[in-house]
Amino acid sequence: MPVAAVIGAQWGDEGKGKIVDMLAEKAKYVVRFSGGDNAGHTVVNPLGEFKLRLTPSGIFYPGATSIIGNGVVINPEVLISELEELNSRNVDTSRLFISDRAHLIMPYHIVLEGLEEDSLGGKAIGTTRKGIGPAYGDKVARTGIRTGDLLDKEILRERLALALDYKNKIITKVFGKEPLSFDEIYSQYCQYADRFSPLIRDTTVMLAAALDRNEPVLLEGAQGVLLDPDFGTYPYGTSSSPLAGNACLGSGLGPGNLTHVLGVFKAFQTRVGAGPMPTELKDDIGDAIREYGQEYGTVTRRPRRCGWFDAVAARFSTRINGFNSAAITRLDVLDKLPRIKICTGYKINGEKIENFPASAITLEKCQPVYEELPGWEKLTGNVRIYKELPSKAQRYVKRLEELIGCPASLISVGQRREQTIVRKSIF
Ligand code: GDP
Ligand code: IMO
Ligand code: MG
Repeated sequence: MPVAAVIGAQWGDEGKGKIVDMLAEKAKYVVRFSGGDNAGHTVVNPLGEFKLRLTPSGIFYPGATSIIGNGVVINPEVLISELEELNSRNVDTSRLFISDRAHLIMPYHIVLEGLEEDSLGGKAIGTTRKGIGPAYGDKVARTGIRTGDLLDKEILRERLALALDYKNKIITKVFGKEPLSFDEIYSQYCQYADRFSPLIRDTTVMLAAALDRNEPVLLEGAQGVLLDPDFGTYPYGTSSSPLAGNACLGSGLGPGNLTHVLGVFKAFQTRVGAGPMPTELKDDIGDAIREYGQEYGTVTRRPRRCGWFDAVAARFSTRINGFNSAAITRLDVLDKLPRIKICTGYKINGEKIENFPASAITLEKCQPVYEELPGWEKLTGNVRIYKELPSKAQRYVKRLEELIGCPASLISVGQRREQTIVRKSIF
């Protein structure tokens, strides 16, 4: 019963959508287990180019069932528009199901996040402003509203009345803004209830049955390890865990069910939003990587901060996730560079730092120690067999494997599904 988790191993946007779309060919179930519409997963396949925010990236295969797991927070309006777009482009979404335990993003989450970010000024997290943090906050504070609550409109009414009363006090008394209308939100969410009720169910039962039948399951992560609330660059991170451990919690499987944990690493480093990034390049090379790789946010279109591969962070990522193998993506983006650097260590005031620090303030002070490799200066987008990569590109991949601490089972050399070198199958 193969169950593989696909985990963003850096600061997000590693190319998880591409990898999941490619692997989903063999999957029977594809489950999104964390995050919300802060994610933007790009898929380029024979049906076109898609930017998925909530729908699992396996939706394109008629043989696979898609599940939005309990670990996800759902903005129903975003999901409706995403499904409408998919349907308008002839993608069948009838095999999509939603966990009855997933939490809903409510209008007050988005309003409050905007007010909080604005009030932080220069110390803002630089969130996607989709209400993600406030929605997860309510989940752990036990004041959230879940998809299952949509199945009974009286329960929905009670939960909303309780939550909104308190939220409106903060909106009016702390921020001096207008309160939100109960009637408007209630009637809107009753419409969402009518739309989504047929899709909401106990998806853990579906997955248990799939395992009994020995059917392959793919667990699709969102964000990246370095944005994790525990292990990321706190407080500059997101509010749900992108880690392999949460692949189980966010879908309702047990750790013993996982048969492969795949870490998705870009061949270099990017980050959107605020927070430390030791290898950031604020120069022509950084700009060249951004332009050649079109490194702009999938959701917000914000320019991504670009830099050299950070192997200190990568080793840490492998350690806390137990990656069995890595997918190295966007190798082709480095095709034209004559020299390529890898950060193999950090220094603070000349003193060597071996491990990725817990504190964002400490990480901010870390100076990267680089080793330099020659670039291959050849196009790799058409390569499908590892041995046909330029030898200098092979050398770069080999060095990344040594530093990351696990073998590269997949190497991606372009956006399209088929632009992938498969060295070892995951399922
Ligand atoms: P995700 O959030 O991890 O799914 O990644 P995003 O979709 O936000 O960003 C990754 C970007 O890289 C998308 O535009 C992908 O189409 C693109 N991409 C993925 N793999 C490759 C690759 O190997 N080469 C190139 N050039 N682009 C890639
Ligand atoms: P995918 O799944 C890259 C970043 C935001 C911000 C921080 C907190 O496409 O890889 P949030 O809205 O989550 O509270 O923002 O996290 N962030 C991402 N960066 N890729 C993502 O998702 C991200 N999701 C959130 O930019 O710095
Ligand atoms: Mg993305």
